[in-house]
Amino acid sequence: MLDALELLPDDPILGLAALCRTDDNPKKVDLTVGIYMDENGVCPVFDAIRQAQTTLVAKEVSKAYLSPAGVAGFNPGMQKLVLGENSAALADGRVSSIQAPGGCGALRIGAEIIQAASPGAKVWVSDPTWPVHIPLLGSVGLQFSTYRYYDAQTHGVNFDAMVEDLKAAGPNDIVLLHGCCHNPCGADLSQEQWSIIGDMAEAQGFMPFIDIAYQGLGDGLDEDAAGLRQLAERLPEMIIAASCSKNMGLYRERTGCTMFLCRDKKNADALLSQAKVAARRVYSMPPAHGALLASAVLADDDLTANWQAELRGMCDRINGLRSDLVEKLQTATGRDFEFIRAEKGMFSFLGLSGEQVQTLRDDYSVYMLGSSRINVAGVNARNIDYLADSIAKVL
Ligand code: LMR
Repeated sequence: MLDALELLPDDPILGLAALCRTDDNPKKVDLTVGIYMDENGVCPVFDAIRQAQTTLVAKEVSKAYLSPAGVAGFNPGMQKLVLGENSAALADGRVSSIQAPGGCGALRIGAEIIQAASPGAKVWVSDPTWPVHIPLLGSVGLQFSTYRYYDAQTHGVNFDAMVEDLKAAGPNDIVLLHGCCHNPCGADLSQEQWSIIGDMAEAQGFMPFIDIAYQGLGDGLDEDAAGLRQLAERLPEMIIAASCSKNMGLYRERTGCTMFLCRDKKNADALLSQAKVAARRVYSMPPAHGALLASAVLADDDLTANWQAELRGMCDRINGLRSDLVEKLQTATGRDFEFIRAEKGMFSFLGLSGEQVQTLRDDYSVYMLGSSRINVAGVNARNIDYLADSIAKVL
């Protein structure tokens, strides 16, 4: 039976990162997977997380099972972080949340709930979107349509096309939106555009499903959640998948959260019960360590301030790198790369062909995804000139 299964190709993101690790060229540049890297090319542990971990390790007395809902203080902390201290939806008690194994687990729990509510429902995803969205949500049986989003000519959002396509989204449909720092293109909706999507959701009855994995790495924690918060205040129903991978550096600890915004508390409680049963049937309960650290940071004013300051520094560094990259690339190539400055978060599409990307990999040990998506945080003072020169050569 098992011998009928064929060898599959490596994952286009994680497989490429693994390939880059095996490259012994000292000049290699790793712009593959979306992890924050500092000036030394290291993905750091936040100081506040390290402090929380020291305390946790000293005091932890048990590794007994968690509930399927996860660590007690984690869900309320995440709700405030994402929806804001003054959220009316939170004050009305119409939000419930379940801890999930990372942003992926959070998306999967959201998909399980949608499938339970409306089997085979259609999810509208942006073109392009994170390549894992479709297999992750589709594996429960959901169907897909795409809406036009990124315009490779203008290097920005083609909002007219997005609106035109979403006019076909009906009351039983779900529209998957990137809360901020669009992965893979870095082009985000303006607040006015979020408001128009809110008008359409109200008029047409579709439900937004928001994937927010990069809060705090675009413009700031509140700024990056502003679009999502607009929708939360006016729409009766919405699902949010949040991740602590990037903004708390908890990548391998698989720490995320699914939030259900419902018409009332009774329905929010019902959805939490459904989500717990979904968790039980898929993985029983999420891992504890990351959520214990995140909740300790979110519950302590000093640790929160420390974490936010470090996150602010990362956000500022990424935005500084965007400006540096624009200048270096324009000088090296004589072409216009101004669009990189306007984008948000870790990613940018450089607009290179598949062949150019392959040559960069083979001849220069510069690794980016086949779509020419780069992780801006992989750029640093030591590799930026080499990167710009290599790109100039393939252009
Ligand atoms: C990425 O897009 O590089 C990240 O979200 C990591 C991943 O799991 O793909």
